[in-house]
Formats: sequence, C-alpha cells, structure tokens
Amino acid sequence: MCGIVGYIGTRQAYPILIKGLHRLEYRGYDSAGISLINESGDLLVYKAKGKVSALKASTEGCDTHGTIGIAHTRWATHGEPNQANAHPHYSQSHMLALVHNGIIENYKSLRAELEHHGMIFCSDTDTEVLVQLVEYMQTTHQCDTYTAVHLALKNVVGAYAIAVLDKRNPGQLIAARKGSPLIIGVGKDNETCPAGESEFFIGSDATPIIEFTDKVIYLKDEEVVMINRHGKCAITNLDSVSQTPQLCTLQLSLDQIEKGGFDHFMLKEIFEQPSAIRTCIRGRVNTQEHRVLLSGIQDHCAQFKSAKRIIICACGTSWHSALIGKYFIEEATQIPVEVEYASEFRYRNPALSPSDIVVAVSQSGETADTLAAIQLAKEHGCFVYGISNVIGASIPRASDSGTYLHVGPEIGVASTKAFTGQVITLIMFGLAIAQERKTLPTELFNQLIDDLALIPDKMQWVLDHTGDISQLAKIFTYCHNFIYLGRGYNYPVALEGALKLKEISYIHAEGYPAAEMKHGPIALVDEEMPVVVIAPKRGMYDKIVSNIQEIKSRKGRILSIVTEGDVTVKEMSDFCIEVPDTRDSYAPLLTVIPLQLLSYHIAIAKGRNVDQPRNLAKSVTVE
Ligand code: AGP
Ligand code: GLU
Repeated sequence: MCGIVGYIGTRQAYPILIKGLHRLEYRGYDSAGISLINESGDLLVYKAKGKVSALKASTEGCDTHGTIGIAHTRWATHGEPNQANAHPHYSQSHMLALVHNGIIENYKSLRAELEHHGMIFCSDTDTEVLVQLVEYMQTTHQCDTYTAVHLALKNVVGAYAIAVLDKRNPGQLIAARKGSPLIIGVGKDNETCPAGESEFFIGSDATPIIEFTDKVIYLKDEEVVMINRHGKCAITNLDSVSQTPQLCTLQLSLDQIEKGGFDHFMLKEIFEQPSAIRTCIRGRVNTQEHRVLLSGIQDHCAQFKSAKRIIICACGTSWHSALIGKYFIEEATQIPVEVEYASEFRYRNPALSPSDIVVAVSQSGETADTLAAIQLAKEHGCFVYGISNVIGASIPRASDSGTYLHVGPEIGVASTKAFTGQVITLIMFGLAIAQERKTLPTELFNQLIDDLALIPDKMQWVLDHTGDISQLAKIFTYCHNFIYLGRGYNYPVALEGALKLKEISYIHAEGYPAAEMKHGPIALVDEEMPVVVIAPKRGMYDKIVSNIQEIKSRKGRILSIVTEGDVTVKEMSDFCIEVPDTRDSYAPLLTVIPLQLLSYHIAIAKGRNVDQPRNLAKSVTVE
C-alpha cells in the first residue's frame, strides 16, 4: 500500500523522485506528493489528487530544484483521497515534512492530545499526527529531529514506514519502519558524486532504486536511519542503540520492471508465464534423476518428516493458489492441509501445535495480515515456511525457511504470473515432502516430475491459440454478472477467474464449485447470464458435463474451457476455448490463462485501467 521514495545526494532530486513514484504507482494511486529542500533552504511541498502524472502537471513552472527530497503515492486508509490528505504532511511550523505508509492505530488519542497542546491539523489522516508528534517532541525535549523521531515513534501504535525532511538540516534524511517495508539504496561512489560525497535512495521496494544502485539495506522493524550526503548511514533501534546495517545486492534488473512493448504490465505478465514458470522450476525439477530440490525443505527434513498438519495462510489470489496447493499436497503427502484467510486466522484463537507447519503464501511478501498470521504461528511454536516472489521482503525474512517464486517482478495489480508461480511452487513443495516421506509410488512420482517439466511449453501453446479472446470479450462487455464454475482442482480456478474479472472490469462475478449450483446459485441463471465452465477432460469430467447440462436447461450462456479436441462440451457450449491435455492436478496452470486473458480483454473493451484498477493497491501493507 502506498509508495515512498526518497533521495539525498548531489543530483537533482525531482526527476529521480517523479520517476520513482511512477515505478511505485502500482502500490497506490489515490494522490501523490513530493517535498524538496531547494538551494535557498526552503522546504517545498507539492501535492495533487490522482496519479503521479497529475502531480507532475501541477508542478510545472514551480521551483523543483534541490538535491534532497521525499515523495509518496497514496492508497488512502484514513481520510478521503484529496489534496489536503495527500502526503507529504507539514508539521505546524512547516519545519518538517513527512511521508508515511501504514496506519497509526492510536492516531485519535494522539491527535486529541496534540490539539490540547494547541497544535492545529490540516488533514483527516492518521499520518499527520506523526509529523506533529515529532515536532512536539522536539519542542518539549529540546532535542534534534533524529532524537524526536525516536521519541515520537515510541508513542505510536500501528504500522509505519516514514521518511522525514527537516528544513534546518538540508543535508540529512531520516527514515524508519515498523510493519511496512523500507529499503535504503546505497549509491555507487561514481563520477556523479564528487570526492567525499555520496548519495542514498530510499524506497518502499527496490523498483525506484534499481536504476541507480543494486546495493541496498533492508531496514528492520523499529529501526530508525539517518543518512546524509557525506556517506553517513546511522541505524539505531527505538532505544537509540546502534544497529549494524547489512548490505545486500539486489537480484533485479531494470528491464524486468518495464513494459517491454506490451500495452500493460498485466498483459506482459500473462505472456511471460511460460518463461517465468520455466525459471521457477529450473534447477528444482530434475527430470534426469527424478528429484525435486526446493530450498528450505531438505535442510529442515526433520520438521517436514514429523509434520502432523500443514496450514497455509494467504489472501486474495494467493489464497486461491493455496487451495490448489492443499489438494495437491494432501494427495501427494497424505498430510492434512488447511487453507486459511490470513485476516481471519490472525484474529481467532486457532488450535496450533509445534508439530504444525504454517506456510505463508504471498506474492509481495508484505501483506500485513499474512505477516501477522506468521507471527501468531511462531508464538505457538509452529515452523513457518514462506513462499514469496519479492526477494528480501518481510514475509520471507520472518519465516523459518522458505523459497521464492522466481517469476520476476509482478507490477500489474491483478496477479497473473505470480498465481501460476505459486501453484507450481506449492506442487514442488508437495513433491519435495513426498520425496522425503516416500508417500508416492516411484513410477507415479517420476511421471509427476516429467509432466511438470512439460508445463511451460503447454502454457505457450495456450497463449499461441487464444488470439480470438479479444473478439470474444467484446460480446461480454455489457454483462453485469458472471458465474464461474469448476470442480476439484479447477474450483479454485473458478474463484480466481471471477476475482480477475471483478477487480479489473468491475463486473460482478462469482466462482462456485459446479455441483453447488443446484443448492442456490442456479436461481441466478437465465438467458442473460454468462457461465464460464472450466471442464478439462480429466478429473470429474462426466460430473461437470451434467452440471453444464443443468445450466443449458435454464438457458445460461456457456463459455467453456476444455481439453484440446473435446467435442462433447464444445457442442454444449456457446463459446469454447481449448487448452492442451495435462494431468488433473496440473490443469489449473493451463486453464487459468484463458480466464486471465478474458478478464484483461473485457476490461480493455470497457476502457478500464487494468494495471491500476480503482480502490486497489498491489501491496496490502495495512490490515
Ligand atoms: C490479486 O489479483 C489481487 N490483487 C490480490 O488479491 C492479492 O493476491 C492479495 O492482495 C494478496 O497479495 P500477496 O500475494 O502479495 O500477499
Ligand atoms: N494511513 C495513511 C493515509 O491514509 C497512509 C496510507 C498509505 O499507506 O498510503 O494517508
């Protein structure tokens, strides 16, 4: 949620910050703002409702000079998305400017107290209390801003990543985090920096930083950093005890975060799936020796051998992939698997024991609820395995072990390649445990490995044969409702197809297990209702054929996803899309692709912003 970018060095900050905001915009796009200290020492703040382009347009002709600055793209939690609520926020004296990602839970009581002391607020945000509190601490304790930030944060309940500019100290930038991510980019001492001077970047993630440096420090929870243009990077905890920063190298390249000729990131990411999945299984699925090597399993063999139960916690699309994971892991390992919405799990009192393995699945690795679910699991002594796409994110860092998807950065808000990456990673996870526990007959295990290795080529086949979906999509543009049906492994695909359509086209859609229709939802079916049925040849094919018949009898319009060459379902359908044959458990990796494309093309036909749908944000770092 929201993106923060900051710069201090010798270059002009404004272009770096604006570019950084563009790269971070997928995280939130209600409003944007920037703060700079110019050469005359003025602390400037510019803000605009809407996207970064609106901010850029609004600053035309304004003074945007300065070699230090912070910027923010917002996903509103407290206060509507207008200019006043946009970040950065000034302190009362206009000496400080602050940007924030997260939620200050005790902001009401803090605000009441500060108002009692005469401070006047200009916004409805929780964030403004932070900057006012820092100023209040500074005044009452007669201390410097760095110390005041520590004192203020000690009084705060909630989650934050913040960056602060101080007009009186134009050579330093202060930042801190708890629960929301923040990365410091350490500039290369190159020709842009005169001897003795250096530059630093800060970012909510690595995307605004990678163009300038691959050397980063991941700030940890409750750490405060002070960086200056002379190379100083001092990190302390909230008690002002000095911490040793660990310098890491980013595994990200610039072309990975650009559109590469596609109109939208979402389309690029859909089409990247064959290569992304190839990379995901590379070195892990060995067809020569028929072995699976997944990090964090072999080296914790005892945990996985003795596990009595696996609980997978996730949200949204990741929850759908977790459901597919459950079906496969149970089948392969015979270990009972439960799938939990992280947001529910964290607030109930689940019966957990140290023999449970809790798996957290999260593309971003930052989802606040999933992170909290991990913390709860750890309090109960469970072993936590994290599956994330973003290297170095909070969830992998908080897990006991885990693995990465390696599908490359996903920028489109609607998750596509991360979904298939998660499904295949959970399949490898199940296979790796089955390998250790010897729960599958050798012949079947070997076949599973061989079939898995064929998936990237089959994905490519789907992409090569679905060119007419854009035409098909036009027929459905004016529908107000959709039903998606699937059974077994394809039931979660129905949920995912419906979610994709909802989030980017704003058409209401529901996913159901096909056999549940007759228990109520079938009442919705009439000649207007498109029903997308995922009906590949294997699995419960005959059963789903009967379900299609039930819909047909009520005049529903059937759009089916079938196995190449299937005539039975094709003849019953109004429209039909084929995918290659594969085993039942791997079908979601193929059947989901036409559904991703369908939602993409319907959204385009409706003129929606597919990469940045309304009200959504890529990383949900607030609960
Ligand atoms: C997917 O299209 C969504 N935008 C959303 O449901 C997402 O999957 C969810 O917020 C979880 O995110 P995570 O995988 O980064 O934890
Ligand atoms: N809670 C803050 C606000 O609503 C920050 C939200 C964000 O992370 O963008 O302004």
